[in-house]
Amino acid sequence: MADSQTVPHSVALVVGAGGGLGAALVAELSQSHGTVLALGRTTQPAIDFSDEASIASAAAWVAAECQRLQGELRLIVVASGFLHGAAGQPERSWSQLSPDYLQQVFLVNTIGPALLMKHLLPLLPKQGRCVAAFISAKVGSIGDNALGGWYGYRASKAALNQLVKTASIELARRNRQALCVAVHPGTVDTALSQPFSKTGLNVRPPAQAAREILTVLQQLPLDATGQLVDYQGQTLPF
Ligand SMILES: NC(=O)c1ccc[n+]([C@@H]2O[C@H](COP(=O)([O-])OP(=O)(O)OC[C@H]3O[C@@H](n4cnc5c(N)ncnc54)[C@H](OP(=O)(O)O)[C@@H]3O)[C@@H](O)[C@H]2O)c1
Repeated sequence: MADSQTVPHSVALVVGAGGGLGAALVAELSQSHGTVLALGRTTQPAIDFSDEASIASAAAWVAAECQRLQGELRLIVVASGFLHGAAGQPERSWSQLSPDYLQQVFLVNTIGPALLMKHLLPLLPKQGRCVAAFISAKVGSIGDNALGGWYGYRASKAALNQLVKTASIELARRNRQALCVAVHPGTVDTALSQPFSKTGLNVRPPAQAAREILTVLQQLPLDATGQLVDYQGQTLPF
């Protein structure tokens, strides 16, 4: 770690760095932040959400990088997520519920982020402001659910929001200036949203969404910890 004469510089980490939003977050942070570490399924080390050892190894690499760079991990953004793919499509009706799809959507949207909390949150400094942000979705809001459908995705993001709230309480015991938040990015033009984009939605390019999200994370008051906030800084109902 840095000696007492040196102010450690701030290191940011993006998980899900190969995704549309994740890649834009890495690009934006590289310009505005300084040191950015990027992790995903194809990075070295690689993260596999079905293999906790890969997450533990990646966390050990992050800790070693911070030490080598004489920096402190001040920002974590988890931008991984799953809505559609080989395991299936979001359900329009309960008749379409499938174990394969439910397992995949919960693995990527809930279990992976939970294990990231376990291995990454202890790396945050015990003093000074730091932020752990988990990209969630407004459709995970139970209070906001007026349309139905998308059972698995909604439930996996609602569960993520509960994990964020719970972790925020534990994190505050270590550092009163640490925030743990769930973030709704709005509709972003990525592979995840493309099959579902329709007219009337405010679809934003990933670079714009990344800038907006990072601005919100920079400005969030400490009492926003544990909440679901959107890309404009508004708190959404759980
Ligand atoms: N796009 C939207 O309109 C929108 C709206 C609301 C919420 N969101 C949320 O925003 C976040 C970013 O999504 P995006 O739009 O950027 O989608 P995306 O382009 O599909 O990126 C999602 C990323 O998640 C990671 N991922 C996917 N499957 C995985 C698996 N099995 N194991 C581990 N990681 C996996 C991948 O990152 P790596 O390739 O680096 O592994 C992937 O590239 C997600 O949490 C999503 O739910 C998006």
